[in-house]
Amino acid sequence: MKNVLYCGDNLEVLRKEISEESVDLIYIDPPFFSHKHYEVIWKDEAEIRSFEDRWEGGIENYIAWMRPRVVEMHKTLKPTGSFYLHCDWHANAHLRIMLDEIFGEKNFRNEIIWHYDIGTAPKKDLKRRHDTILRYSKTKDYIYNEQRIPPLNPVRYNIKEPDGRRYFTRGDSGKKCYLNEGVSPDDVWTFIREKSLRTLNSMAKERLGYPTQKPETLLDKIINISSNEGDVILDAFCGCGTTMAVAYKLRRKWIGIDISPTAIKLVEKRLKDIGAYRNEHYKTIGLPTSEKELRELKPFEFQNWVLDEIGGRVSRKKVGDMGLNGHLIKTLWHEKAGIQVKQSDRVGRNVVDNFETALRRDKYQKGYIVAFSFTKGAYEEVARVKNKGELEITLITIKELLDKRKTLLT
Ligand SMILES: C[S@@+](CC[C@H](N)C(=O)[O-])C[C@H]1O[C@@H](n2cnc3c(N)ncnc32)[C@H](O)[C@@H]1O
Repeated sequence: MKNVLYCGDNLEVLRKEISEESVDLIYIDPPFFSHKHYEVIWKDEAEIRSFEDRWEGGIENYIAWMRPRVVEMHKTLKPTGSFYLHCDWHANAHLRIMLDEIFGEKNFRNEIIWHYDIGTAPKKDLKRRHDTILRYSKTKDYIYNEQRIPPLNPVRYNIKEPDGRRYFTRGDSGKKCYLNEGVSPDDVWTFIREKSLRTLNSMAKERLGYPTQKPETLLDKIINISSNEGDVILDAFCGCGTTMAVAYKLRRKWIGIDISPTAIKLVEKRLKDIGAYRNEHYKTIGLPTSEKELRELKPFEFQNWVLDEIGGRVSRKKVGDMGLNGHLIKTLWHEKAGIQVKQSDRVGRNVVDNFETALRRDKYQKGYIVAFSFTKGAYEEVARVKNKGELEITLITIKELLDKRKTLLT
């Protein structure tokens, strides 16, 4: 089986594409029930892309949305498989009950507490400093690879062997427990600030700017505990692909699903960077490739798609700038140029006029407007601007972009 990334709603992908009992381990970190509006802040602080995580309605709606998805995931698990669901206080009680119903209470294995030290400090409440990871198995015969970690209380190992090894004797059995052998981990995991779940330190090498990105150490631990080399790991809300990256590093196969083309493109890049994404070893399914699909994208996804195609970046400073549609590319094939992205047809003369004003104000010599189509008046306006000199505006249709892709502007 190949390693695969799917861009689409996981409910459909799971139903149509993933065979029953084919997956060894599932980790999911679904969008939380938190009415948040994320902005994806990219490596450069000045560049932003929008990302939405919004739930209308109450918690029941959220659970009703999650349930059929988890039911499908449960089907795809092998009998020896495990399932980890990452959540926080917003929905963990509701999700736990839902999972008990789907997996059976007896297959509940752990409630892992991820303790970290970053977050806000409320005046009249205890600080909220943990996430919860609910761990289930499909049956009672599941993969479990015991890990060994240093003990919490090394002082307890107060007897010395002649060879210097320290140990203590377990009261009930008289068994010697050696310090150098470590202990098996418990269900409270703490990471130092740099590796904190909530806010990966901005200096951390692995940080990609995805707002809900999880640290690789977390996935490392989970994948080692609950799978073996060659096993298939699925993340059905894969975001920027932390699970995929770690699965590759640990020699597992991976399947990633995300509804956002922006996320899937980011995962592709992340996997390419670590060598996991080579032609013969992977494929991506479901990224938009036709005008029809592009028309159906959410506005920020459409904008991100266009920017990716032409190698652009959004400048934070320009957000809300009407003349530039709120977005401005800083580099475009090594040039500095303004860009306006319109997810519409028959973009007219007035758009070109406003764009010209904005470009002149910000001292750009080049600008691109991308849309599905333009009116005759828009092309006439572009010619008029060119005649005035100093400024060149190019109109690009989505069809041209699809036909020629990145060679268009070279
Ligand atoms: C909390 S983020 C996951 C972050 C990820 N753990 C990481 O380390 O980057 C949740 C993801 O779920 C995706 N998502 C939301 N609804 C989805 C759906 N119906 N099908 C697939 N993915 C979905 C979002 O696009 C988002 O990337």
